[in-house]
Amino acid sequence: MKKEKISFEYEVFDSIHDLSEENKVLVSKANHISKSAYAPYSKFHVGAAVELEDGQVFVSSNQENASYPVGTCAERGLLAYVNANFPNIKVKKLAVSTININVPLPPCGMCRQYILEIEKKQNDNIALFLSGNEGQVIKVDAAKDLLPLNFTEDFLD
Ligand code: THU
Repeated sequence: MKKEKISFEYEVFDSIHDLSEENKVLVSKANHISKSAYAPYSKFHVGAAVELEDGQVFVSSNQENASYPVGTCAERGLLAYVNANFPNIKVKKLAVSTININVPLPPCGMCRQYILEIEKKQNDNIALFLSGNEGQVIKVDAAKDLLPLNFTEDFLD
């Protein structure tokens, strides 16, 4: 038996104001669109904003359903739209935010797997910006950092 260790580095900014102008705008768009969430059940409002390599920016929010599992997370709904409409344009950045809490919002496990799929498909990292309504912002360089020992197409024939 041997032990292995996986670690990764990420950046923590004290506030949105410490980000570059471009990243500040993206994070603030994610936070703003969280107000459009359809979240009558959890009342947890999540927003997501993506920036594509050609500079286009798109936003979306979580959309819940009376049949709970039918609901979709903000980032997954948004990436599905972007992947359908711009399959050949790389996603460079994804910001996820909420008005509900004042700490950086970590994407759920299902969304991590979904973002990873896009990373694998485009063969390029997606920088993640995680934020709450105020306070710290976390920047992670790639979705794969958030999902070690991941399952990908590599295992399928
Ligand atoms: N939610 C997201 O939209 N993204 C995440 O990564 C975390 C969770 C949503 C799903 C549900 O509508 C609500 O937040 C509470 O779980």
